[in-house]
Amino acid sequence: MNILGISATPRKNGNSEILLNSALEPFVEANWEVSRILLSEKKIGMCIGCESCCESLKCFIDDDMSEVYEAFKICDALIISAPAYWRNVPAQLKALFDRTYGIKSKPLNPTFE
Ligand SMILES: Cc1cc2nc3c(=O)[nH]c(=O)nc-3n(C[C@H](O)[C@H](O)[C@H](O)COP(=O)(O)O)c2cc1C
Repeated sequence: MNILGISATPRKNGNSEILLNSALEPFVEANWEVSRILLSEKKIGMCIGCESCCESLKCFIDDDMSEVYEAFKICDALIISAPAYWRNVPAQLKALFDRTYGIKSKPLNPTFE
């Protein structure tokens, strides 16, 4: 089994990275395959709302989001560790969420528009 951990702090070695590592520890001990993506090391551009991904099922922006798409394809479970920014998630994580619009499980959920 494969678990993906995403740390959404823009701060290198921030609290979210430390907490993510703790949360993943039991999975390491249970011999899961563990992957980590640290948004503090990634460049993920903003969605521009062109909706071309609704046809192509992929985003035309060429950046580190391609690593996230590949990791999503193979993971069985996901942990996201993020600081509160104004009672919300940091912009880096919101950008990641927005960029999943084109992979919104069309085959699994055809009613989602
Ligand atoms: C722009 C900004 C907004 C924040 N907003 C909140 C908030 O709404 N509530 C809160 O409890 N802490 C807030 N904080 C504090 C962070 O959530 C807190 O310092 C957190 O531990 C930082 O995590 P990190 O080390 O993983 O970056 C904010 C910090 C920043 C920089």
